[in-house]
Parts: sequence; C-alpha cells; structure tokens
Amino acid sequence: MKFDHIPNNVDLDSDRKLQKALLRWLPNYLDWWRDMGPSDFAADQVYLRTAISVESGGWAHFDYVKMPDYRWGIFLTPFEGERTIGFGDRMGEKAWTDVPGEHRSELRRIIVTQADTEPASVEQQRLLGHTAPSLYDLRNLFQVNVEEGRHLWAMVYLLHKHFGRDGREEAEDLLQRRSGSEDSPRILNAFNKPTTDWLSFFCFAMFMDRDGKYQLASLAESGFDPLARSTQFMLTEEAHHLFVGETGVQRIIRRTAELMKTAPAEDVTAVGGIPLDIIQRYINDWFSVSVDLFGGEDSSNAANYFATGLKGRYKESRSRHITDHVALEGVYDLDVVDGERLTTRELPLRRAMNSVLLDAYVEDCERALRRWNGELESAGLSDRLSLPSRRFNRGIGVYSGHTFDLFGNLISNDEFEARRSEWLPTEADKLYVESLMKPCFEMGKIAGWIAPPNRGINQHGFDYEYVRFTDDPYLRA
Ligand SMILES: [Fe+2]
Ligand SMILES: [Fe+2]
Repeated sequence: MKFDHIPNNVDLDSDRKLQKALLRWLPNYLDWWRDMGPSDFAADQVYLRTAISVESGGWAHFDYVKMPDYRWGIFLTPFEGERTIGFGDRMGEKAWTDVPGEHRSELRRIIVTQADTEPASVEQQRLLGHTAPSLYDLRNLFQVNVEEGRHLWAMVYLLHKHFGRDGREEAEDLLQRRSGSEDSPRILNAFNKPTTDWLSFFCFAMFMDRDGKYQLASLAESGFDPLARSTQFMLTEEAHHLFVGETGVQRIIRRTAELMKTAPAEDVTAVGGIPLDIIQRYINDWFSVSVDLFGGEDSSNAANYFATGLKGRYKESRSRHITDHVALEGVYDLDVVDGERLTTRELPLRRAMNSVLLDAYVEDCERALRRWNGELESAGLSDRLSLPSRRFNRGIGVYSGHTFDLFGNLISNDEFEARRSEWLPTEADKLYVESLMKPCFEMGKIAGWIAPPNRGINQHGFDYEYVRFTDDPYLRA
C-alpha cells in the first residue's frame, strides 16, 4: 500500500520514520481485521462514509466500498493558532506538541487504554452481521466497525509518532489482545462482555460508545495538543455511533409499543416482539457496566491528570458554566457507604473529576430515556423505562462491593441475589432475544421486532440498497 492511499492531514509523506513504523504495522492490522473484524461480508459492497479530509465537505464521503478496501485515514482537527493548556496547575502555558518527559508514562497509559477499546468493540460485534434486522442496520454496523478501526489508527499514529520504541510495542500489543480472551483480554472489563444480539449492540452503542464520547471529549481538552486534535476529530464520527445506538433502542421500543396493542394480554412474545421488561433489564445491565468505565468516583489518578493538564472536564474550554479552570477550591458531594447507611462526603473537586464527567454522561442518558419514553407515551401506554441509579450493580469505584436496588438504596447481598432476575437479563431473556435474531436482507424489509428508521442514510430512504452482496460463491466464503 502506498501512502497516498492513506488519507491524512499529518504530512505522512515527509516523515520517513513514521512511514516505516506504519508500514510495519499495516499488514498486522489487516491480518487482525481479517481474523477479528466482521466475519464474512468482506467481498460485499457496503455504502460507507469515509473521511478523506477534515474539511466540512470531505470528512463524510459516501460510496460503495468493500470493507477491507476502506481507506483508514489519519486526521487531526487542524491547528487553530497556538493553543495553551486550558486547566490545572500549568494553565496558560503553551500546549505541548511533543510528549513532556515527566508525563510520558501517564500519557502512554491514557492513549493505550483509549486505543484498546477501539479494536475491542469490533471484536465484540464481529458476528452481528449475520443477524442484521435490515440492510440499513447492517450498513450502520459496518460503518461503526470501520470507524472504530480508524480510531485505532488515530491512536496508533500517536504511539508511533510520539512514543518511539515503546509506542511501537504498544501498537503491536493492541493487535494481540482479544476481547473475552482468558490469557490476553482487552484492558477494560466491559470490553470483554459478549455482544451477540442486536438489542445488546444497540445498548452498547448507546451506553458504551457514549462513555467513549465523554472520555474523548475530556481528552480533546488535553494539554498534549496532538491528542487533543486527534480525539476532537474522532468525536465527529462517534456522533453517528451514538445515533445508531439511541435510535436502535428507540425503534425496538416503538415496535414493542405497536405490538402491545395487538398482542393477547399485551404479551409481545406471542407475536415476536421484545417485551419492555427485557428491554429494561438490558438497559440496567449496559448502563451499569458503562458507568464502571468512568473509573473511581474518588480518584487520585483523575486529580493528577487534571492537575498536570492531561485530561480536562467535559467542554472545559467551551462551556460558560465552567469558570474556575484550576479547581483547587471547589468540593464535590459524594454519597458513600458508611456502615449500614449512605452518608455524604465532601471531596476536593480535583479528586472527583471522574464523578463530574459521569454527571454529564448520566444527564445525557436521561435525555435519551425521555425520548424513548416519548414513544410509549405517544402510543398511549402508561409503561415507562428508566435508568437505574449509578450505584446499582457496580464493579468499580466506591459502590463496588456493596449492593443497591435500582433506586440506589443500600440492600443486603441476599436481597440483591433474590431480585437479580427482576433487574438484570436472565438466561431465558438472552435465549429469547437470541431466538429473534434472524437476518432480513431484503431491500426495504425489516425484522418483526424492530421498527424501520424515520429516514435513511445520506438522504436515501430506508429501502435503499445499503449493502450489495456479491453473488460469487467463492468470494462469499
Ligand atoms: Fe471509537
Ligand atoms: Fe464508537
């Protein structure tokens, strides 16, 4: 592959060392994509969006592409004049264009942790194509997959360009770990969770990609300028992933609401729909594992990242609500477990940066829930879905090791176990959802458990040929 085939705005042509590193990594990446990317469909033409430049007309170029031929590009949001560090102890100093030696290992850790989630999600989703409910959804899945691949490129570029030999080693390791593997799992636990049905996929894109949005946004504030500009550009693509997740769940709810009106005793399982209580349990599950991704509510790492200018708050430089960018004075009220009850503890604001980011995330999720409930309301139903408390079902942070109900009340472990099947997906739920997962690849048609979208992609209708299957049986294999 020649470098003019890799769309980029990082002047790849003039950097021989970087070219060499990327050329060594590229075949391993393609091997990884072949082994762990979407199973099958490699010979099919998919109507994909490709970023070919960062200009407003260039980053969303639509055409039919075979996934292995997708042009994985390297883009940074362009310079907007000289940036300064926008927060923390070094606020106002010039932003770093190279890695400052004293923060090298933290920065590498931040980048590798973010990077690891990108191939992990592709691995988690690799079998979903076989059961897509429509061509539109199949195309959206693949769009998400190739863009997560590109996000890996964006992070590997940073490792190769700025971290020398250990960066190259980390870039290799990113292709070696495997989601769900016993020996070398992905770094963050939630990225080892199986995602084998489409309700899980939509919840994943809704809740886990949304965590990604908040992590990327706080890195887009970073004093390390190449990281800030890389993540800023990734966010433009991430918006589509969140859309796929949020509207995917919404379309399932819409369909369920429709079916409830005709199903005997509102039991939609009799007519191939997904009942609201199963949807609620999936929400509880995926929301709670996503909340874990924010890390500890009280975190000295988070305080350190903020103090040193590595990771800011959501919209640190863009929100008029954030006026104090040093955050040495403020406090954050955190509910913590004290014996048998909850009490409120005042945390120094810097130590609470993960909690602050989580607050923005939860608010965003609440907004989506209101929209989903709007579907139930307009169908004339009184049922409502809700987000569980952020204390529910936690594996990380101050609430892990304790058990809470959906409202965040402290309960005994026995009570939690007794009610587990009411709150979290059961084996029977999973089997039922799996049983509905049959492909529907006819143009303009859709599976019975989900409603069609309001509109298609890039001005096309829902009935557009979003994937053109090759009819060559040898290529299909
Ligand atoms: Fe991503
Ligand atoms: Fe994503």
